Parts: sequence; C-alpha cells; structure tokens
Amino acid sequence: MLSKRRRRARAGTPRAPAASPEPRALFPGVAVYLAEPRMGRSRRAFLSRLALAKGFRVLDAYSWEVTHVVMEQTSATEAICWQKRMAAALPECPGPRPALLDISWFTESMAAGHPVPVEVRHRLEVAEPTERPPSPAWMPAYACQRPTPLTHHNASFSEALETLAEAAVFEGSEGRSLSFRRAASVLKALPCAVTSLSQLQGLPHFGEHSSRVVQELLEHGACEEVERIRYSERHRTMKLFTQIFGVGVKTANRWYQEGLRTLDELREQSQRLTQQQKAGIQHYHDLSTPVGRTEAEALQKLVEEAVGQALPGATVTLTGGFRRGKLQGHDVDFLITHPKEGQEVGLLSRVMSHLQSQGLILYHQHHPSHLGDPTFQQSHTMDAFERSFCIFRLPQPAEAAVREALDSCPAWKAVRIDLVVAPNSQFPFALLGWTGSQLFERELRRFSRQEKGLWLNSHGLFDPEQKTFFHVTSEEDIFRHLGLKYLPPEQRNA
Ligand code: UTP
Ligand code: MN
Repeated sequence: MLSKRRRRARAGTPRAPAASPEPRALFPGVAVYLAEPRMGRSRRAFLSRLALAKGFRVLDAYSWEVTHVVMEQTSATEAICWQKRMAAALPECPGPRPALLDISWFTESMAAGHPVPVEVRHRLEVAEPTERPPSPAWMPAYACQRPTPLTHHNASFSEALETLAEAAVFEGSEGRSLSFRRAASVLKALPCAVTSLSQLQGLPHFGEHSSRVVQELLEHGACEEVERIRYSERHRTMKLFTQIFGVGVKTANRWYQEGLRTLDELREQSQRLTQQQKAGIQHYHDLSTPVGRTEAEALQKLVEEAVGQALPGATVTLTGGFRRGKLQGHDVDFLITHPKEGQEVGLLSRVMSHLQSQGLILYHQHHPSHLGDPTFQQSHTMDAFERSFCIFRLPQPAEAAVREALDSCPAWKAVRIDLVVAPNSQFPFALLGWTGSQLFERELRRFSRQEKGLWLNSHGLFDPEQKTFFHVTSEEDIFRHLGLKYLPPEQRNA
C-alpha cells in the first residue's frame, strides 16, 4: 500500500505546471492531452472531465510531460504536422515523444477503467522514414495487468536477460534474478520489436543493468557478459545438475564446489544420491528431451482412463505450460478433481495403482495432502494438495515400435508428470496457480498483497482484515475479485 502512495505522490509532482486539478491520478506514467482542432472545445471539456473522474491525469497544456495525445477525426499526416508545430514551441524533447492516438484508444480506456495498452491500430503516426519507431507509451508494472503472448517480438533480448536471471539464481541471488526476469517479461509484452534504446524509456523494471544488456545486443548483436556466462564451466555444470529430477540449486552447488562436473561422476557416487535423483540420472536423456504436445495429449488419455477407472465423474485438466499454449514442455502437469467435494479423497493412490499395474510408471513420489493442517501453509512454499511426481513410461506410437525392430529405436520414452488433486471448492485457485507461468503467479500474488491487501495462493483468496475467504467458481471470478481484467491462459506467458 505504501509503495502505491509513494508512486502516486511522484506522479502528482509535475515538472511543468498543469492547469487541470488532479483529484486522483491512478495511472502513474500516463498523462493524456486531448488535442482540440477537430474535437471542439465543449467535447474536449466533457472528455477531459470523464477521464479525470476515472483517475486519469489530463494535462491542459501540451508539454513533453504528455505521454498520450488523443485526437479525433484526424489523419496520421495531419497529426504529425500538428505535433511538429507544437514541438517547435518547446525545448528539445528529453525522451520518447508522446504517442499520437486516435480517439479509439481513449474510449477503450474509459470503458476498461484503465489505460489499455497502445496497439498499432490506435496509433496515428504512419512511419515517416526519419521518425523513430513508436515507443511503447504505457506498460503496467505487474505482469498480471498485461497480456503476455507465447510468441513475441523480443526473444533475443528476453533470452539474454533470462540467462542473467538463471545465473543469479545459481549464485543464490533471488532478488537480482527476479529483477532480470521482470525486465525480460516486460519485453515479452511489447507489441513490437525493440530497435532503439529510447524505446526502453518509461518501461517498468528496466534498470541500468538490463538496459545495458539490450544496448549491447542492439549495437553488437551479442552481450559480452551473457556470452561469458553461457560458456562458463560453472554455468554449464549448474544447468546440467539442476536439470536432474530431484536436484535443486543448493545440491548442484555443493557438488560443483566438490569438483564434480559430469553425470558419470555423479553415477560413481550413487550412494550419495536420493532415489529420486537416481531415477533422474537414469532417465536423464529422455527427461532432458522436450515433451511435445502430441505426447502430452497421449498422456492425458492414459491419465483420464486411470482416473475414470478409479472414480467415475472425476476430471483431469491439463495445466502448466501446455495450457498456456506451449508446444513443448519439460514436464506435463495435470490437475484432478471431482464435482462432489470430498469424493477426491483417496483417489490418487487408486489412480497410481491402476497406472502401475499397466506398467506405465517408472518412478513416483507421493506427497500426502496437508489440507487439514493449518501450520503447513505457513512453513512451506509448496501448496498442500495431495500430489504425485512421476516418471511415466510413455509408449511410443506404433510406427516407432516398427522402427525399434529395425534399428533399436526405443518403444517408449520417459516423461515427467505431475499429478495434483484438488477439492472442487479450491479448483479455480489450483487451476490458476498451476497454469503459470511461474513469474505470472509471483506477480499475481504480489499484486494481490501489495495493491489489494489480499492473500492469494493455490487454495484461496483471503482478506486478512475481514478474516474471510472469497467464494469463487471460476478463474474469471478470481480476476474480478482482484479488480483485474481477465487474462486467458495463453496470455499468461510472462
Ligand atoms: P512448471 O514448472 O511445470 O512450468 O510449473 P511450466 O510453465 O509448465 O513450464 P515447463 O514445464 O518447464 O514447460 C507449472 C506451474 O505450476 C506451478 C508453478 O508455479 C507454475 O506456475 N507449480 C509448480 C506449483 O504451484 N507448485 C509446484 O510444486 C510446482
Ligand atoms: Mn510444466
């Protein structure tokens, strides 16, 4: 709450005097200027009052403080001429120029109750060869406030930043890692490719370090720091070890410090390995090969069949990256429930027995439910659902079996599967929590707590002041309670 007040205060300290009173500027970083020529004075006054009432900052005078210029019935050429005329009366522009927008951006923002992201169709600026590419004029700070599609325009930048994020985790710097991840995620949400450093101005989470990485990539096509990390023995070994099922950063680091570097060296020390790690190393090749969508669908059928046998009426939902539209994943995540609360108790062990009897399970680790244990949630970062972390023996399609006969191509592949069981009343929260992405979930929880004073996890949404839980029946309900625009899974790829 404090941070929100601080930001509001900053947004309310204009560099140039604004004639309009600012009762409550809710959207820092957005300053609207309604350009009069085609709008007419009374309509302009009306629209201005409307925007102010919705918490927008509206400036009476044109200045470089303006971020969004809104025009009506104006052609792109006219708009650009108008801006040139206005700019002539001002000192040199210190940052990105205000976006020239059609009234459609304004009306959509009023309807939404917040500034909608600027899209190409809103823009009046036709590309003039000498003009800089349009800069993203407005980007909300939390990943849960903006759509993030699976494919985007800035992969080389986001991948570089994510390498730095990963390296920071390997060195135990969670905070630094999160900063890089947030910056990478902002780039994923941009409507176009970054082609000039000036486009980063005004974007949230872009500190000096992340900006420098983008600058180097723009200027040289590569970033020295990122390349150095990617090829370092430390990074490569840490990646190799943490990719093993059952190995976290701490264990990987300990092994590295002891001088271990390869899977063969780990195999020689098998007395030190847990059963899970042994299984992880045994199936390392298969498990480090991405799982495809067709494989995920084949697995869903097998799981559905076992669940249907164990408890008719119980449902299986594909979650994780595949629900967000990914074509590949490191594992497959399934959420199981039954429409009648309580029916799901004891279900998972029956499902596992059924799958085992079919020879489909190479390894599994069962975690009992802690739903009845109020102290569990306080002491664990994991949720309290009953779950099974498995390695499946996925039969390969018939054609592969034929190939096996011919050239020893295996007839099955080891695949990591997470099976999670949620009672029906918690299902929407579990679904939201297990759909990811991981950063999206973190941001959603941070947004709930910091901006709304509510506690969100995979079990519920809690109001600590009223000491009440919200009742919901869908993911949409949860977004609504948080005052967020609903984002479908495919827009949660933050
Ligand atoms: P994954 O790690 O499976 O990631 O977690 P993913 O997005 O499916 O991507 P892949 O598998 O690497 O392709 C999926 C979601 O489940 C949550 C994570 O926060 C993530 O949002 N999750 C995972 C939990 O809530 N608890 C866990 O123990 C593990
Ligand atoms: Mn997954």
